[in-house]
Order: sequence, then structure tokens, then C-alpha cells
Amino acid sequence: MEPLRIAVIGAGYWGKKVIRETLDVGRTTGRVQVHAVVDNSPTMLSHCQNEFGPLDYKLDYHELLTDPKLSGVHICSPNATHFEVASDFLKAGKNVLVEKPLTLRSKEAYQLVQLAKDNNLVICTGHIHRFNNGVRELRRALASGVLGDLYYLRFVWAGFLPPQGFREVITDLAPHPFDICNFLLDKWPTKVTCRGKGYRTKENEELAFITAEHAGDLTAQVEVSWLSREKRREVTVVGSKAEAYLDCSDQKGVLRTSEGTQQISITPSNTLREEVEHFLNCIASHQDSKPFSNQSDGVLGARVVSVLESARESIRQERTMQIQMPTAEEIRAK
Ligand SMILES: NC(=O)c1ccc[n+]([C@@H]2O[C@H](COP(=O)([O-])OP(=O)(O)OC[C@H]3O[C@@H](n4cnc5c(N)ncnc54)[C@H](O)[C@@H]3O)[C@@H](O)[C@H]2O)c1
Repeated sequence: MEPLRIAVIGAGYWGKKVIRETLDVGRTTGRVQVHAVVDNSPTMLSHCQNEFGPLDYKLDYHELLTDPKLSGVHICSPNATHFEVASDFLKAGKNVLVEKPLTLRSKEAYQLVQLAKDNNLVICTGHIHRFNNGVRELRRALASGVLGDLYYLRFVWAGFLPPQGFREVITDLAPHPFDICNFLLDKWPTKVTCRGKGYRTKENEELAFITAEHAGDLTAQVEVSWLSREKRREVTVVGSKAEAYLDCSDQKGVLRTSEGTQQISITPSNTLREEVEHFLNCIASHQDSKPFSNQSDGVLGARVVSVLESARESIRQERTMQIQMPTAEEIRAK
């Protein structure tokens, strides 16, 4: 079978990792070829040329829109460009994997879902922890009932970054906790309360505390920070019989009960490789243009954007916000 041809749009910090991984999947499986690498910065392209050697490097993605050999694009450009780039490719008949967050506004995210559906194309969101074996094991532990009645979850997503100018921490870091929370609980929050602050950049938050309330008295507390000196990607789930803790980076977890602490058995996965392969599987099986049909689909991405949007609105209005989301039936009926 011919390899699927995927172009990577945006070759910065994350885009380079994606190119590395996609090249490796191509080398080891023959299923994919990096068709082109696009970045509007010549400097970034020359870094890529040094690292990856001869590939088709482009400064502008528009000429790819009409390229009949191109199957899909992995979009790793800045968050503010996701909607425009993804809609251009979907309108041109190309499958898309958009890095998180899918878009900045939920209205735009649902428009992308609709475009993919209308054109029978795959839309995946880069919610990478869907492919994290630690998170999968934690989900299994919760489903087994070993924690008893669930009381609350705590997420800490922190690490040190220099002042980020126009970017803010909620949009950048909170997609992961909210995606994982949904994966663990199969629920979306109904209300959200958020407080956030910028210390070095007064106009944009560098730290935020988000309380997300779910049906059944379940609360998730999310801390996101660019100020903490320690990199942390942690989930704790507290229940009536036990507490589970997972380090999402190392994919190491423990279960704590009144009898003591035991390791959760986890064989770590290569999350980015699985994300790339999942996108290829979706394109190859062509089953995934419909909402809810892939493990990391556009509706999931859109719902995460709704939660982030409400969190930012909660800061602005200084109050708890109800989260509005279309139901699965409403989405399917469109
Ligand atoms: N899943 C994850 O864990 C994860 C981790 C990091 C970043 N990301 C996501 O990846 C995306 C990129 O983040 P980053 O940290 O690599 O940012 P970055 O700033 O390092 O890279 C973005 C690149 O896109 C290029 N670019 C800007 N506009 C473009 C356009 N119109 N066409 C082509 N290229 C364009 C820039 O020149 C830059 O090189 C973001 O959406 C981010 O949220 C995901």
C-alpha cells in the first residue's frame, strides 16, 4: 500500500517533535511519508533542514491545498491560527489533525466539526493523553471501583516559562487536564469557576486555579502555572476507599489505601507516536468523518474549548459560569 502523505504545518517546538515522530513511523512501518514541512519563518525552516535533511520545505501552506497527493495535515502552528488553517484544508478536501486546543472559540471549533462531517473528512484533536498508558490504567482503576465513591480530582499542570507576551496559561495548559478529566469520568463539567493572574505580564494570566463542578457532586480542581520552578503534570483522584496518583509525564502511578501504598502497573506508551498512528488509522479506515467516531475527535476538542472559554469568562465576570454544550444528539442531527 502507498504511504499516506502528511504535511506538518508549523515547525516550532512541537512541530519538530511531530516531524521526528512521523518520519520514524514512516521509516519503521512504511505507512506515512512527510509530504511537506511548512513554516512561515525561514529561520525555523533552516533549523529543520539542518536536522531532517532534504524534505519539501515551504513558507506558505496555500499551494498544498490543491495538491492531489496530500492526504492530510498535522497542524502545529500557534493556537490563534488553528481555525483558519484547519478550515482552509478541510474546505480543500484534506484530513486534519489539529494540535490542542482545537481553536480559541467554541463556535469556530464546532464549525470545523461540521466542515469535516459535510466533506467526509477526518478531524482529530491533539489530545495526546488519550494515548497515555498511565491515564488508561487510571481510567481502568476508576472503572473497577477500587477507589469507592469518587469525591474529587486534582490536576497540577505547572512548569517554568519566561514571560509569554500575548499567550495565556489557561488556553495553553488547561486543555490537557480537562481532556483527561473527561476521559476518566466520561462526563463534562456543568459549572466552572476560575481565578487567574499575570505577575510578569499583567495583561495575560500566568497562573490560574479552576474549579470544575460535575454532576453527582464531583469536583475537579485544576492548577495551571508558568511560574512554578518544578515541571508537574499530575492527577490525583480521591475516593471513599482509596486515592490514586499519576505522574502523566513519567506514566508512573500509585494507589493509596488505609493499608498502604501500591504501584499501579503501567507500561509507558509513546503518546505522540500513537497520536500520529491513530490519525493514519482514521484516514485509512475512513470511518472517522462522523462526530464521536474516533478516540480524539473534533467534538472532544470542541468541548474542551467550551470549558476553557467558560473558565476565561469566569475570570472576566468574576463569577461561576454555567457551561453550555450541544448534546450528542444535537451534534449528530446537524
Ligand atoms: N500536545 C502537546 O502536548 C503540545 C505541546 C506543545 C505545543 N502544543 C501545541 O502545538 C502548537 C504549536 O506550539 P509550539 O510550542 O510548537 O509553538 P512555536 O511557537 O514553537 O511554533 C509554532 C510555529 O508555527 C509557525 N507559524 C506561525 N504561523 C504560521 C502559519 N500561518 N503557517 C505556518 N507556520 C506558522 C511559527 O513560525 C512557529 O515556528 C500549539 O497549538 C500548541 O498548543 C501541543
